[in-house]
Amino acid sequence: MTWEEIKGLIRPELVSLGGYSPHKSPETLEGAVEVPLESIIKLDANENPYGCSPRVRQALAEYDSWHIYPDAAQTKLRQQLQDYVGVDASRIVAACGSGELLDDILSLLIEPGDEVINCVPTFDLYRIRALVNRAKLVNIPRDENYGVDVNAVKAAITPKTKLIILANPNSPTGTLTPEPDILELASTGVPMLVDEAYYEFCGQTVVPLLSQYPNLMVLRTLSKWAGLAGLRVGYGIFPPEVASYLLKIKLPYNVNVAALVAVRESLRDIAYLMERVKAIIAERERLFGELKKLKWLKPYPSQTNFIFCAVLKGKASELRQKLEKRGILVRYFDLPRLENSIRISVGKPEHTDALIKILQELEGEMNG
Ligand SMILES: Cc1ncc(COP(=O)(O)O)c(C=O)c1O
Repeated sequence: MTWEEIKGLIRPELVSLGGYSPHKSPETLEGAVEVPLESIIKLDANENPYGCSPRVRQALAEYDSWHIYPDAAQTKLRQQLQDYVGVDASRIVAACGSGELLDDILSLLIEPGDEVINCVPTFDLYRIRALVNRAKLVNIPRDENYGVDVNAVKAAITPKTKLIILANPNSPTGTLTPEPDILELASTGVPMLVDEAYYEFCGQTVVPLLSQYPNLMVLRTLSKWAGLAGLRVGYGIFPPEVASYLLKIKLPYNVNVAALVAVRESLRDIAYLMERVKAIIAERERLFGELKKLKWLKPYPSQTNFIFCAVLKGKASELRQKLEKRGILVRYFDLPRLENSIRISVGKPEHTDALIKILQELEGEMNG
């Protein structure tokens, strides 16, 4: 077969699919930045600037069963998460990042042409995984402050609606949806997935309500608060019946042994990690105040570990480029409802200081 013939076999909607645009890894920026690679300040992927718990580093250094498969049933991991989350282990399933669970839920529910309601703008992975899983995406625009339009979501529900997805707080805008709005949507009875990737930074969760709403499911991750983004561990909380189906269809060894060790040790070090979460929240508020002073950026209040900003003077793409050259990485967007904007992850105080200094210097260079 020629490549042209093989290409003809690929599902047409995937040939034309715009993929997820991940951030750049610092090691790919050799020659593109004016600073040594090791001094790059990475504020583009909402990672934890403090890293993981020292207990994780120590336990991984001592671990020596790399040749043995992990427990496919995640028995201990789910028990450990049971204590942290406060729900029975029978409701919990873990995965290689929370995105994998999104995929498993879509695999479980979606038949070709079923509808998935997405409150846009939001985390782009929902669009991509819904389309890859042959769902029809129904995009409901958020309001001018990025709040969810509850009435419009309810009006969009049809007999084909299989899932409502809601990031809470939302990414990349940082907006929190009030609990009554979530419950109004959950009361429709349609399966609803609330992505609480940033829960530890906002403290609001619908997990205690899961027993009252059997259609409600929650995704969480250890990437952000526990600083384990590189090890890839997420989990979800589901009705027990859904959890048992997910355990059946997931890839058998989806949480690797290093991740199992890392979660165990992180959960033994919650006080330490939550101190760092507190420091990030305090820094978020300071960064917000500093960005506001600049006048040519409009930061939006955030309940996460990042701040979304409209760029009021000059082009966001150029600003991102200029920051990158000077060794500070941020995300930029130029999409419908996310026009000319950047998203800055909250770093350590010294990262804020370096960023603000460069932004002050760049003001004169930004036209418009
Ligand atoms: C809303 C949202 N959900 C999930 C994730 C990713 O989580 P994980 O690292 O567990 O795949 C992110 C990461 O940026 C996010 O913004």
